[in-house]
Amino acid sequence: MKFLIINGPNLNMLGIREKNIYGSETYEGLLAYIRKICEQEGIEAEFYQSNHEGDIVDRIQAAYGNIDGIVINPAAYTHTSVAILDALKAVSIPACEVHLSNIYEREEFRHHSFISAACIKTFYGMGFEGYKEAVLCLKKYMEEQSG
Ligand code: DQA
Repeated sequence: MKFLIINGPNLNMLGIREKNIYGSETYEGLLAYIRKICEQEGIEAEFYQSNHEGDIVDRIQAAYGNIDGIVINPAAYTHTSVAILDALKAVSIPACEVHLSNIYEREEFRHHSFISAACIKTFYGMGFEGYKEAVLCLKKYMEEQSG
């Protein structure tokens, strides 16, 4: 089982950006956290971070045929990107959406996600743990699918 973990714009700035919202752990720390969970679960993990919408679309397209599940925190593109939604729909790879913060308790423009429509489930407001829940959710989904 191979999962692709995609992080969108400014998530490479974790540990520096708005620590009161996103905490003081770094992006590298996040990767180590997810890597460990995937190892424990016997899942191969591939990571991708980009600040560019089109690059994220390209990476999702490249996952077609070689990735079993996608965990995605589209960051600010959550609230703007029909292109990322369409890319997820195009490849039909099971996906879960993650947000470190509780987007529903923040500014109104963060309350809507274009990406949710292509995802099995969205985890928000749980910090790093949201990624763990997303990995476990996808694994369970895959196991159910294969009967
Ligand atoms: C975020 C929430 C988004 O609204 C924001 O633009 C981000 C991060 C989160 O993880 O809480 O960059 O996706």
